[in-house]
Amino acid sequence: MAAAVGIAPTPSVFAPVSTPAFAIRELSFLVLAIVTFIFVVVAGLTVYAIIRYRRRPGDDGREPPQVYGSTQIELAWTVVPFLIVIVLFLTTARYIFAIERHEATPDALEITVVGNQWWWEIRYPRLGIVTANELHVPVSGAARPTPTFITLESADVIHSFWIPQLAGKTDVIPGKANRMWIDPRTPGTYVGQCGEFCGLQHAGMLLTVTVHPKEEFARWVAAQQAAAVDVPEARAGRDVFTSVACINCHTVRGTPANGVFGPDLTHLMSRATLGAGVAPNTPENLRAWVNDPASLKPGALMPAMKVSGDELDQLVAYLVTLR
Ligand code: CUA
Repeated sequence: MAAAVGIAPTPSVFAPVSTPAFAIRELSFLVLAIVTFIFVVVAGLTVYAIIRYRRRPGDDGREPPQVYGSTQIELAWTVVPFLIVIVLFLTTARYIFAIERHEATPDALEITVVGNQWWWEIRYPRLGIVTANELHVPVSGAARPTPTFITLESADVIHSFWIPQLAGKTDVIPGKANRMWIDPRTPGTYVGQCGEFCGLQHAGMLLTVTVHPKEEFARWVAAQQAAAVDVPEARAGRDVFTSVACINCHTVRGTPANGVFGPDLTHLMSRATLGAGVAPNTPENLRAWVNDPASLKPGALMPAMKVSGDELDQLVAYLVTLR
């Protein structure tokens, strides 16, 4: 999906850029090493037995001697796997606790992400910013770490928040606030996905995290905090927007639109995609989306707005001013 809209390459858990993801890769390598060793031993012995004891010319067809019961062998194949499981269990527990014990520092950025069918609401409570589907965070340097702590909530069903290069999956559960953190060390855009089946458009819940150098992040914050621009030529469209049902679900700060069921549109055009990654955010796609969201995203909970062609043009002309 990310590739389809050209945001960033398909993410790999083997290319981490944040502490929890580094820990997960380390643990994966340990598990891979152990299971590879087991595979080589088991497959090796199997191949040896096949070759060494294969049927040969002149075989007399008699059954070889059958061995029943051997305390030594049985102990070996019980105790060794048990020890392997203990090692995997203890190592995994140690990594989990190490990641969870991490406390928020005063420099940490606090974000709340709310899973919705089928998009992510992203709030920066201390900065007064609300956006959707595209997280923006500062890079976290070694000298002065600025991690981002994320509180995860759900507006409806269980989702799962997962950006493979930054951290493990954390479930997003109705009625419960889960916490996780990231400290991305390299600027760039990292792709994530909803990791828990949550209905028809489970695959249409793209998530991106853009990691900015400090000054660039400050600029992004300032741009998002600014009020929606008021372009005189777009006022006809704004009147259409405020006179139809748009404002029941969407917020545009500084206008009567203060709905909370759909994404905040104050800076709609600062986002790269529409419908949580289903299409690039272009005026043509925006027109198709407003006219009938299901044409781009079957099952989307936003209704078709059924406005006339002229009004639709005005509406889109207004929406594209929301930079
Ligand atoms: Cu949300 Cu799957």
